[in-house]
Amino acid sequence: MPLLQRPFHGDEELGKKDDDHKQGTKGHMGRAWQQRRLNGPRRSNLKKIALVLLVIIGFYYFFKNMPTDLEQPRQRPSFIPPTGPNAPAPKSVPERYDSVSKMADDDASETPLHNFNGPIKFYQLASTLHAVTTRGSSPINQNVLFAAASLKSAASLLPIACDMGIRARNYVHFALMGRDDISMDILKSVNGVGKDCGITFHDARPDFSISSSDWRMEVSSAAAFKHINDFVNPQATFVDSSGEEEVWFLKGLNQRAATLGRTIIELPDNAGQNLMWITLLDSSSLSAWNKASIDFIVHAQPSASGSLMRLLESLKKADFFSSSYPRLTIELPRDIDEPSKRYLEGFKWPPKSDHSSSLLTLRHRIPQHGINSDESSARFLEGFWPANPSANHILVLSPQVELSPLFYHYLKYTMLEYKYAGNNPAVENLLSLSLDLPSTYLNDTTKFTPPVSNSTVGDNVVNTGVSPFLWQAPNSNAALYFGDKWIELHDFVSQSLESQRTRPTPTTLNEKAVSKTYPSWLEHVLRLARARGYWTLYPNFENEDRLVTLHNDLYQPPEEFAEEVKSDLENENDELGADPSHYLSLKNKDSETTLLKTNLLSMMPNKGELPKPWDMPVLTYDGERVEVDGLHKLGLAYSEIFRREVGGCGLDDMEKVKVEGEVGDLFCLKDQKS
Ligand SMILES: *[C@@H]1O[C@H](CO)[C@@H](O)[C@H](O)[C@H]1NC(C)=O
Ligand SMILES: *[C@@H]1O[C@H](CO)[C@@H](O)[C@H](O)[C@H]1NC(C)=O
Repeated sequence: MPLLQRPFHGDEELGKKDDDHKQGTKGHMGRAWQQRRLNGPRRSNLKKIALVLLVIIGFYYFFKNMPTDLEQPRQRPSFIPPTGPNAPAPKSVPERYDSVSKMADDDASETPLHNFNGPIKFYQLASTLHAVTTRGSSPINQNVLFAAASLKSAASLLPIACDMGIRARNYVHFALMGRDDISMDILKSVNGVGKDCGITFHDARPDFSISSSDWRMEVSSAAAFKHINDFVNPQATFVDSSGEEEVWFLKGLNQRAATLGRTIIELPDNAGQNLMWITLLDSSSLSAWNKASIDFIVHAQPSASGSLMRLLESLKKADFFSSSYPRLTIELPRDIDEPSKRYLEGFKWPPKSDHSSSLLTLRHRIPQHGINSDESSARFLEGFWPANPSANHILVLSPQVELSPLFYHYLKYTMLEYKYAGNNPAVENLLSLSLDLPSTYLNDTTKFTPPVSNSTVGDNVVNTGVSPFLWQAPNSNAALYFGDKWIELHDFVSQSLESQRTRPTPTTLNEKAVSKTYPSWLEHVLRLARARGYWTLYPNFENEDRLVTLHNDLYQPPEEFAEEVKSDLENENDELGADPSHYLSLKNKDSETTLLKTNLLSMMPNKGELPKPWDMPVLTYDGERVEVDGLHKLGLAYSEIFRREVGGCGLDDMEKVKVEGEVGDLFCLKDQKS
């Protein structure tokens, strides 16, 4: 199959004849021979592959034709091009090809029969692949590929490719692998692709594509992808998954990409409108498209079926485009109310799963007694463990929230950008991505107003006002926690609980900074964030639309604080509460905002272009605006106190080196034991 070998430089004849290429012409064959002569170092490898393939092809014919038509195979070209350096002169060969192609034409005057199965050659691919100058040979680069076989698919991919090319974050390549005999220039002009798109085109169609069998085209797609991969190393390959694309193409390409370990991104039919944010991502982010996974976890509360059902319904309506569905874990309380029970009986996740296996996990709690905050924190965190901390992340959802249908677009977009983009030192400090923009501080007694930003456009500082921002305060309503940080959190809570058991209560650190309307684990997250200088990215949109809305009508306080919060609220309602500003967030019964429903990019500030982390405002957990350095210094000061009061470290304890994913440097407990 991959009989095309290393293409050659500066062959004028090749360039000239490319334009008047027709199947089966002499020029066609002449080029083939020239190309073959220039095999170069990988020839022997390719020779082996070709031999193996020929054997397979042989078997295929044998079995395919055995019972019915023993004559047929003889009509097909049995010519196997010699590959040695002393290969015989090519002259005698073109006639045979001519006759074969004439026969094929005669057979199928109007619609060609797709029955040709001969060896595969790519005559047009060599020149463009060899001309690739965008560091195609290095395994990590900025190349991305759009590949299509069907012209309809090409037409839906090209505008996206052009947009990405104009953004100039990636080098965009486009490969046509189909049967159609359209010239590349016509393909470009029909789809309005000009020079300004900056797309490098590759004609990856095999010879005799029009009359090729599906099987030959499948093998050809795989082989073409292999060649392109050798020269371009695309970090991600986009294909159309709207249903227009040829089945053989998707099959061949997907299989080969899987064996080569390359990323394939399937674009659904409305990608040109809804998924344009992909054009803003860099090749490094795009290559993580399928590798990064997100688990969802919902902590359901007793007698709160209404909220849970509302959340699950919004999840069902969310658009997951062509991404695989996340796993969903629902933690159920000891007593499940009747409506929840009935709802869960009929609940399917993923929603469109007819044949695919369920991704839903239900967990049910056993103890009947009330749960304290330590137990509750531990139990909640135990709900997830990342197998691969750099790729498995968790989205925490409170049953109070209702999600925008577009929330997964935003989540994947920001996750790929801020976690996986190349050259982003700020990723170290990124603890989580919040979908919720809270209206109050964590103590829930003071209103929170998002900061405005001065972002840089070129060299000018522009006061754009609305901007996403980095805040030290974590979120428990709807936030994605990164796997590596989750592991660190486990260690932190584990050691904190151990310290609480064995050591006297700390003095300065025992004040609770997080309101009891939030679950108890959030306090631990805040402490870790303060000690490490971690932050959470919060969204901020130009209008009132939100990614999530919080419903307080069916609000249930966290189990561990249920008694306290209820009595506080009752007191307030009776005008007896000492502090009327208790639980500000719960008072705004009509704080429910509208959900983002149309187009993500148009709703985001700066037309959806995400600011660099260092251009965003940074806030401490109590709302003070700081520089990144400032946050780091505050973290050092905090961890100093923490080590002494909670960590059990004495003044003479050596400062320990921080280990990735561990908090051993904040605690001296283990040393004392051993
Ligand atoms: C942003 O710009 C405003 C006025 O242009 C200025 O007062 C403010 O200090 C700037 N903020 C930052 C963080 O640079
Ligand atoms: C709650 O937090 C805000 C921001 O840090 C602070 O200004 C306010 O005083 C706090 N309220 C109480 C009651 O501690």
